[in-house]
Amino acid sequence: MEATKGTTEILNRVFDNMFLKSNIFRNRDALRHDYIPDHLPHRENEIRYIGEVVAPLLLHNKASNLFVYGKPGTGKTAVVRFVLNALSKKASELRANIRCVMVNSRIEGSEYRVLASISRQIGLSVPFTGLATAEVFRRIVNYIKGNNLYLLIALDEVDVIVKKEGENLLYELSRINESFSSHRVSFIGISNEITFKQILDPRILSALSEEELVFKPYTSDELFDILTERAKEAFFDTVCDPLVIKYIAALSASEHGDARRALDLLRVAAETAERDRKSVITTECVQEALRKIERDQVNEVIKTLPIQSKILLVSILRNLRDQSAQHTSGEIYAEYRNMVANIGLEPLTDRRLSSLLNELESAGIISSKLVNMGRYGRTKKYSLSVPQNHVFEALREDTLLNGLL
Ligand SMILES: Nc1ncnc2c1ncn2[C@@H]1O[C@H](COP(=O)(O)OP(=O)(O)OP(=O)(O)O)[C@@H](O)[C@H]1O
Ligand SMILES: [Mg+2]
Repeated sequence: MEATKGTTEILNRVFDNMFLKSNIFRNRDALRHDYIPDHLPHRENEIRYIGEVVAPLLLHNKASNLFVYGKPGTGKTAVVRFVLNALSKKASELRANIRCVMVNSRIEGSEYRVLASISRQIGLSVPFTGLATAEVFRRIVNYIKGNNLYLLIALDEVDVIVKKEGENLLYELSRINESFSSHRVSFIGISNEITFKQILDPRILSALSEEELVFKPYTSDELFDILTERAKEAFFDTVCDPLVIKYIAALSASEHGDARRALDLLRVAAETAERDRKSVITTECVQEALRKIERDQVNEVIKTLPIQSKILLVSILRNLRDQSAQHTSGEIYAEYRNMVANIGLEPLTDRRLSSLLNELESAGIISSKLVNMGRYGRTKKYSLSVPQNHVFEALREDTLLNGLL
């Protein structure tokens, strides 16, 4: 009974804490990923450009199809959504028959769901499953005809669906206007993969990218302005000194120029300050936040690795701890074979191990350098790209590896 009382109290305290007023946050939501601010600093030119591309729709004229490229967190989704919202608003003021829809193909995950989402957003209900995609397509076309609609479709993260299910959807969409007697549907494609163009069929590419716009990573000054505006909404006055924002902006610009990651860093730094019951965010909070974010990322990657890759990673850790070792792939494989033999697993071939090493490298956990070993020829030497204790902690969560670490 006592024990139950104890655990009930723990929860009561957790719940009560929710009602404690934060010293830090005025509006936590302002730092969420899906929050769209009223104002997007340093994207005025992009907003104007896209506005000019889509404006002819207001007169029911053809708008050119547009492709938007840019690295992650450069504001593509936020800007396109912003323009679409404004266009929808203007269209309803003018009583123009325009519908703007935005579909994220990574979130939808299949061609069918992309089409179903487009249907729903224009007011046509289709079942979640059960129809052939060609049938959904036909219903969309008929609905557009029947309701005399003009459509602007933004396909966000469109590379994901093409890589997953091929080009069929884009091909059909690029030809959809052939079903009407006048131009009815325009597109904005969005991708954070610049190389996406190279994998796309040239006919589809030229149909869908009559115009093209590239979003550049943000500079330190630009991130400073973006973060400052968000900080004003998110925090009480005097919580966040401009110097702290400058620090985050400079760090983020030198590494990636990604506004999402910069905002995340600000949020986690603020949460750190809040947890420590501080009333201001300090640069130490930012440094701690950086470590936490990195630790979480490493953890996330390592958690999902197959067991053989985890064992290979343990081999690397062991090899790196050996002062006399050269940290070559040969040594790492030998360490690996020793270990799998001990736990009774079937060892993988060197060829397979080499491809697992490549995967660990592309995941950003390890890095390699090609070195000349004299008469032994050239070989790769490995090191960790993230702190050793983060890797160690993440591996320790797998009980299968208990005896090995
Ligand atoms: N100019 C800006 N002003 C204010 N907030 C911005 C600006 N640019 C981006 N953001 C914010 O940064 C985050 C990331 O932006 P967004 O989602 O538009 O990036 P993206 O280019 O679409 O990235 P991805 O390629 O990963 O999809 C969002 O929370 C967005 O609100
Ligand atoms: Mg996006």
